[in-house]
Amino acid sequence: MKLAILSRSPHSYSTSRLKEAALERGHYCKVLNTLRFAIDLSGNSPDLQFRGKSLSYYDAVLPRIGTSIGYFGTAVVRQFEQMDVYTPNTANGISNSRDKLRATQILSRHDIGIPATTFVRDIKDIKAAIARVGGVPVVIKLLEGTQGIGVILAPELKIAEAIIETLQSTKQNVLVQKFIAESKGRDIRALVVGDRVVGAIRRMAKGDEFRSNVHRGGSTEAIKLDPAYERTAVRAAQIMGLKVAGVDMLEGDEGPLVMEVNSSPGLEGIEKATGLDIAGSIIDYIANQVDFPELDVRQRLSISTGYGVAELLVKEDSHLVGKSIADSGLKENDITILTLHRETEVFPNPRDDKVLESHDRLLCFGRLESMRSMIPKRRKKGPKIKKLHG
Ligand SMILES: Nc1ncnc2c1ncn2[C@@H]1O[C@H](COP(=O)(O)OP(=O)(O)O)[C@@H](O)[C@H]1O
Ligand SMILES: [Mg+2]
Repeated sequence: MKLAILSRSPHSYSTSRLKEAALERGHYCKVLNTLRFAIDLSGNSPDLQFRGKSLSYYDAVLPRIGTSIGYFGTAVVRQFEQMDVYTPNTANGISNSRDKLRATQILSRHDIGIPATTFVRDIKDIKAAIARVGGVPVVIKLLEGTQGIGVILAPELKIAEAIIETLQSTKQNVLVQKFIAESKGRDIRALVVGDRVVGAIRRMAKGDEFRSNVHRGGSTEAIKLDPAYERTAVRAAQIMGLKVAGVDMLEGDEGPLVMEVNSSPGLEGIEKATGLDIAGSIIDYIANQVDFPELDVRQRLSISTGYGVAELLVKEDSHLVGKSIADSGLKENDITILTLHRETEVFPNPRDDKVLESHDRLLCFGRLESMRSMIPKRRKKGPKIKKLHG
């Protein structure tokens, strides 16, 4: 394949390892400086110029986009997407993950553990916000920090208020998060590629520092990831819309708590600690996607025949929970399950005696009319309209 790595630092460990892994496997690979693109919207079809010349054809791009060039960088990735060039991380996925508030909002809608987090704008609300996450000590975070900069532990209410007020007075928005003391200055970084974790490390903070970032002097060790952590990491990456991601989790008393999902995870720490060829796994995944792109079957609905493909979700209160596929009544309604998705597991052509569980996602083929009636109605929120009397 012909691969472009979008990066501003061609000589960094991660970029050079990715390029090396691509070349070793016989692919063509160039590192292109994200800032040297011009986005051409003048013609009929989307186009990109690189260093003033029309860009040649690429099969895939791998964005390695730092926070500093966020807006323009994601615009370049979006342009590649519009030109139908494969990218494991979409512009949307990258923007979702970069902003800690946006990422936390998205993750909190799914049943993924996250540390209790609130966001305040008004100084008058700080006290209540701290109480909501369980009181001091709290962790205060700048929305777009990285490498541990902009992550502060406030032991007391007065100090927390002073820090938040100071940051807000310089027009910086902050998150207030419960301090997960039981994690003891440690966290886990899982590197997700596609739908699996290809490597994981534990990072430990230095001395009495609570931030375990390597840039803050933290040390690393390779670990075999507990399945609960593995599932959480893969799901968090999927929810953010990233196929290559570094998922950071704290070890809470009740299991994994996702702190952040990085769209351009560094490879040095994890490759050196695990001895694994993580760059190679990323390149192999991309090459495989270029050869066998996942069809978006939902776009292939055959409206004319009335038959098509749809995804059905088995809700907790559904009558399907606990029934086998044979007893589900789907067959009688002319609906065939093509694949069953359960958490991160996938069962193609599931057998008739497979029992359905709540939260299963069923990719089905059948009469659209019968399937439509099975798609749960949207939950309506908001004030009910009162009937007027008289
Ligand atoms: N709520 C928390 N409780 C305990 N430790 C935390 C918490 N949030 C962050 N940390 C520690 O601080 C480090 C940096 O926080 P993080 O949100 O990942 O910011 P950054 O993007 O700067 O890496 C984490 O790796 C972790 O060790
Ligand atoms: Mg981090």
